[in-house]
Amino acid sequence: MTRQPFFYDITLRDGNQSLKKPWNLTEKELIFNKLVDFGVQGIEVGFPASSELDFQACRRLAEISTEKTVVSALARTVEKDILRGIEAIAPCKKPRLHTFIAMSPFNMKYVLNKEPHEVRKLAVDAVKFAKEKLPKNGEIEFSIEHFGDCAENIDYVIETLQEVVAAGAHVINLPNTVERERVKNFVNLVEKVYNALPKDIIISVHCHNDLGMATASTVESYFAGATQLECSLNGLGERAGNTNIYEVAVALHNCGVDVPLQLNHIYELALTVSEMAHVKIAELAPLIGPQALAHRSGIHQDGAIKTKDMEKGAYRPIHPTLIGRKDDEKIGFTSQSGKTAVFEIIKDAGYPITMQEAVRITPFVKEAAEKVGELPVRNILDIYFEKIYNIKGDFRLVSFEKLAENVFNLKFFHKDKFFEFDGHGNGPVDACLDALKQAGFPQKLVNYKQSAIDGELFGSGAVAMTVIHFEDKAGNVIVSRAKDESTINANVKAIFNGLNLLSA
Ligand code: KIV
Ligand code: ZN
Repeated sequence: MTRQPFFYDITLRDGNQSLKKPWNLTEKELIFNKLVDFGVQGIEVGFPASSELDFQACRRLAEISTEKTVVSALARTVEKDILRGIEAIAPCKKPRLHTFIAMSPFNMKYVLNKEPHEVRKLAVDAVKFAKEKLPKNGEIEFSIEHFGDCAENIDYVIETLQEVVAAGAHVINLPNTVERERVKNFVNLVEKVYNALPKDIIISVHCHNDLGMATASTVESYFAGATQLECSLNGLGERAGNTNIYEVAVALHNCGVDVPLQLNHIYELALTVSEMAHVKIAELAPLIGPQALAHRSGIHQDGAIKTKDMEKGAYRPIHPTLIGRKDDEKIGFTSQSGKTAVFEIIKDAGYPITMQEAVRITPFVKEAAEKVGELPVRNILDIYFEKIYNIKGDFRLVSFEKLAENVFNLKFFHKDKFFEFDGHGNGPVDACLDALKQAGFPQKLVNYKQSAIDGELFGSGAVAMTVIHFEDKAGNVIVSRAKDESTINANVKAIFNGLNLLSA
């Protein structure tokens, strides 16, 4: 049995404070409700001391919160901030006050302008004060801002945390406020704190994504003892953002961890948040990005297609439906792509094609892609129509007319020479092959199939499709096809397409 992670969402606080246009109350309420439905166990709703607007928003969200969710407000280690925070979350069923101060040597010296013993006193006093003022059911979270920069004074940090815990903190949050170096170094610090504090204290991490490793730091911290994971929707947060909750949730799920979130809400959540935050989802964003399900190289396309309906895919970390995304792995055709892509794209567009035909037209599709990059499906279909239904070559049909039952007159050119013969046979295909034989072009028909087709798909009125298999002199079977409003014409055109393929 794995330890269940506690997802603590900071979209409405760290995320919101980073927006060009922070959310109003209505917007915050909408996101809050979505977070509750998603299943996060804790939500940091804001920083009430920062503005009247934020105070009102926190108060409103506190009012609508239920037993299901811990709701917290942020406060500096300053009495007036703490009082304002507690006032804002007072109506909660599960209130939490989150107070913080920096403890890295750099920040204490250059930003706070304080000695370490002064910072320690502020931290401990703030927690004592919060404990005194909070209702009985209230919790205290304490954060060491810039914890990731505390390697050189980690003993001081740990001693301070022990005092903070003794003063009444329930959750110790360890932020990588600015991600500067190795994941491993950060995780080692987390592990040190975890080992030094009583086991009933919840260790939390809060990672910013300055170097793009916040998900890794958070996931590895979980395995090092952190139970609370502070993340945000779409990774919203200061600068390069906070840890993306979708990535952490899916990574832990893939590791067999019991993730208590409705993972199938992810895709819809991501689209909504992107729109509301006016922050586009990056093309290459993991899981939710437009490109996350696109395959362009021939090898990847082949593997993706072969494992399309399987839960585990050759070239994707999850089945897209796990996060509520449509099962639409995109096969885009570029000069790097191959025959499997041509086959799939045409088949997906609703048109009949065999792999042999795909192989035949792939060089033409590649040539077109070399000029423009990724080819739109329309252009691929144009090549398909030109190269499959209208094969140019030595043979050119002039006419094929019925003279009597099972007797047809065939006129055609071979190179520049004109031929005309009356063919006899059991139906038009037989009669046409008979006429060709008389002209000196006998063919070995292996298979013949005619079917009705969707006229709309093919444009004006095409209703009959003929597929013919001929065997060439070397014993290879070639496929040719044609379509026409008349079944007889579809047959003869398919035969002439086949003749041109054989003589190519
Ligand atoms: O990044 C940070 O250090 C924070 C703290 C306030 C928790 O957001
Ligand atoms: Zn932060």
